[in-house]
Amino acid sequence: MSDHNQVKLTTMDYSKDRPAADNPVKIQDLTLRDGHQSLFATRGRTEDMIPVAEKMDEVGFWAVETWGGATFDTMHRFLNEDPWERLRTLKRYMTKTPFSMLLRAQNLVGYRNYADDLARAFVERTSENGLDIFRTFDALNDYRNFETVVAAIKECGKHFQGCICYSMTEPRLGGEVYNIDYYVKKAKDLEAMGADSICLKDMAGLIAPYDAYEIVKALKATVKPPIHLHSHFTSGMSPMSHLKAIEAGVDIIDTCMSPYAYRTSHAAVEPLVMTLLGTNRDTGLDIRQLAEINEILEKKVMPKYKYLLDDSKVSIIDINVLLHQTPGGMLSNLVNQLKEMDALHKIDEVYKELPRVRKELGQVPLVTPTSQIVGIQTVNNVLFDDKDERYKMITGQVKDLCYGLYGKTAIPIDPEVQKKALKDYPRGEEPITCRPAEVLEPELEQAKKDTEGLAQDLDDVILYGIYPITGKRFLNWKYGKEDPPAEVKARTLEEIKREDEMVKLAKLGHLVKKVEKKGPPKTDALRTFDVFVDDEYFEVGVEEPGGSPVVSYVQQMPVQPPVSAPSPVAPAAAPSPSKPAEPAPSKPKPAPAKPEPAPVVADVEGTPLKAPMPGMIVKYSKQVGDAVSKGDTVVILEAMKMENALPAPADGTVQAINYSSGDSVAKDDVLCVIG
Ligand code: CO
Repeated sequence: MSDHNQVKLTTMDYSKDRPAADNPVKIQDLTLRDGHQSLFATRGRTEDMIPVAEKMDEVGFWAVETWGGATFDTMHRFLNEDPWERLRTLKRYMTKTPFSMLLRAQNLVGYRNYADDLARAFVERTSENGLDIFRTFDALNDYRNFETVVAAIKECGKHFQGCICYSMTEPRLGGEVYNIDYYVKKAKDLEAMGADSICLKDMAGLIAPYDAYEIVKALKATVKPPIHLHSHFTSGMSPMSHLKAIEAGVDIIDTCMSPYAYRTSHAAVEPLVMTLLGTNRDTGLDIRQLAEINEILEKKVMPKYKYLLDDSKVSIIDINVLLHQTPGGMLSNLVNQLKEMDALHKIDEVYKELPRVRKELGQVPLVTPTSQIVGIQTVNNVLFDDKDERYKMITGQVKDLCYGLYGKTAIPIDPEVQKKALKDYPRGEEPITCRPAEVLEPELEQAKKDTEGLAQDLDDVILYGIYPITGKRFLNWKYGKEDPPAEVKARTLEEIKREDEMVKLAKLGHLVKKVEKKGPPKTDALRTFDVFVDDEYFEVGVEEPGGSPVVSYVQQMPVQPPVSAPSPVAPAAAPSPSKPAEPAPSKPKPAPAKPEPAPVVADVEGTPLKAPMPGMIVKYSKQVGDAVSKGDTVVILEAMKMENALPAPADGTVQAINYSSGDSVAKDDVLCVIG
């Protein structure tokens, strides 16, 4: 590939005035979506995007990804932000660069297939609110799930980018399912559907450089639309894969601004710009302009979020991806789920069970939502199965997958697992083979009815339609019908500085003076810090009523921290002492301050149904007084975004129900009592 080195560096500097390349690589920036989704659980707030928005608009990116993926969910659930408003706001600051979003085809920005009417309305409203490029993917690469949204994208006159989710069953490209013919065939399908560009979507960073070369070469030889490579850094291979894909003629590459790059995110843009400088694939971007943006992100934005970064490891690459092919997001979900169940020591069993479950469930690619579906089911199998019975607790989503509601899997689902999953399945025990949305009743009108008097426009209705429980809660916050809880409020740079300052002082031993007056009662906003001074260990509680932090208590712990003392405890089980006791990013936050459920348990005799895992109550399927048989579904518990039908532990009558829809519960909370 010597023709890439025709360098004319003598008269050239970094500026945009340098001679244009024959075939410049186009760059899409992902900082404002996949960047913060990958590195800090999508918690980036719109107010922290505005300081760089205008400058980013000047760079000359092919597009900026600003929306979709997990943003829609996280914003209304955790940030008390209207996702539609972000689109409109950013569009005011970025008028030149096209906006792209990640659209989960018929899953929209949620975790199940929605009905055609809701899907169409979503695309139309998204387009109307300012979106230009719809990067569309289906977790199963079943393009029947594209039909409705693609028709709507085309009608709106927008760019349809079709994705092929990159997946493997072997250490490298090849094998019976995901081989080169598979990718070529999928690209041809997308071209036939009218794709304006085609994206090879490598969400786990699995694509090896020479495989990227081979696939891009093959795609460029067979289809006309531009080829776009999206490859996460996770395994460490992506910068090499980018370069090989560029040599093979790839048209567009995804990168992030450097503070949002690497780890499970994407390679940074700057090294790529320098690599290609002066070649016939020169991006034409001005590296000094990029540096200015990075300065703002580093100094004004990242300090607010760095507490969310996973600093538990020194290494920035994830060997597990190379070993187990587990995408970063999926892995952190698995780890969190196991932690919440006090079962982190079973992670190796989970790794062993995962390929088996994946194969039984049709060798699906591992991407949202299939990565969660396979991941959570694997954890359930490891935690609840015994040697006599597998798949003891099957999630609702696995049942849907077995029924065909997500589409066609790469290979058929194991018939035994399918049969077990579909026993008493409400839609029927015989799986469907048609386009999944064909069996779905329209749902937009119902969503309108449900939100009458609350929703002010179609955008509100759609938000509710996709997320009924958290969407309704958000609309109540938005229209002042309920107070949002403290944890959804933004933290200011001032607050962060004060916290950092206090931790620093505490570390120096200057924070031990007793609080003179009696402190206010502790609330949910309390954050605890573990502070170590030599061999002493302090637990410090920090809380910010009205913005000014108050030290609630400083308690000297009688025990030494396990990590600073020689300890027989295995390293994997030792808690991380340096991290504030902040809830894990993907863990659902506690429900807003609601009246505690009446402690009816004490007065009621019977068998308790305890939450097998922390989660949120979706609904009770039985009422107090209903007769139930052992095994009947009593309550649906959402855990890690999967719905779990919890069975009655005994025959009898429902004596007490302790929570209601939307409540968060901890492991072992008594959900109801059967007597
Ligand atoms: Co991605």
